[in-house]
Amino acid sequence: PSDINMQGKKLCNYQGCWYYYKNLQAVIDYQKHFKPLDTDIIVSSYPKSGTTWLKALTVALLHRPKDGIQSHPLTSDSPHGLVPFLEAKLYARSSTPDLTKLSSSPRLFSTHMPLHTLREPLKDSPCKIVYICRNVKDVLVSEWQFRSRMENKEAERSTLESIVESFCKGVHACGPLWDNVLSYWKGSLEDPKHVLFMRYEDLKEEPYAQVMRLADFLDCPFTQEEIHSGSVEKILGLCSLSNLSNLDINKTGISWNNLDHSIFFRKGEVDDWKNHLTIEMANKIDMVIHEKFQGSGLKI
Ligand code: A3P
Repeated sequence: PSDINMQGKKLCNYQGCWYYYKNLQAVIDYQKHFKPLDTDIIVSSYPKSGTTWLKALTVALLHRPKDGIQSHPLTSDSPHGLVPFLEAKLYARSSTPDLTKLSSSPRLFSTHMPLHTLREPLKDSPCKIVYICRNVKDVLVSEWQFRSRMENKEAERSTLESIVESFCKGVHACGPLWDNVLSYWKGSLEDPKHVLFMRYEDLKEEPYAQVMRLADFLDCPFTQEEIHSGSVEKILGLCSLSNLSNLDINKTGISWNNLDHSIFFRKGEVDDWKNHLTIEMANKIDMVIHEKFQGSGLKI
């Protein structure tokens, strides 16, 4: 089917990916009209994989925090304001948004589109794409919690069951997840200068090394002087969940689709799924993941 109704919201399939009906035209407009600049950076992810964190880190790497962070861009705008979604914000508002109005240089964008759909207008462009992926079971629990916070109600078991069910069928906004992740995984193997593949769990386990890796990829490596003066630690501190979620802008701000910024910050832990999924649910997800990622060389 090319259209399906999911919990009251219409999903449409385009180039193998499911989109909310309201975002589909924006994806098509992006493909038709977007003109990349060589210096553009695109932060990409499957929803709930650590997008907000990666956006903040990217901004902080390009605008290195000095001693006081009062005037840092992350204190006056949210990561989602600074790194706007192509399909959910920019092209959702206009088929030809005025991208000269963006405040950042280089231009920063984000997306949940799979790589083949994103790449259409980027042919021959040297712009850089950074992707973050996360343990699928944590992604699903995070989505469940996010949805209930969005609707301002208790997280109900039945919602979690239906998220797991639709995930396993591959009918999921921005999914199937495996196609989304594998498109970037393959892209990073084929074109490592232009596509960087990161994992949420690696960022949690060895944040210092991962941020250095990201800086190298973005062609803004740390100088020895910066390393000695604690610049990496400053960036990690600025972008930590506790710091970001306590900034006024993220506590009170309202995002592009009228969402309260604070709902993008919750626990930020690895393996929180163990507190919520039943063994049956976890086994079912594992089976699907095993089948879909088999032979890809990716351990997820
Ligand atoms: P949990 O719901 O597991 O806590 P996204 O940004 O893609 O929407 O993903 C949201 C998930 O990333 C949430 O996970 C959220 O708590 C976590 N997150 C947000 N900011 C973070 C940060 N600075 N550091 C670590 N995790 C963060």
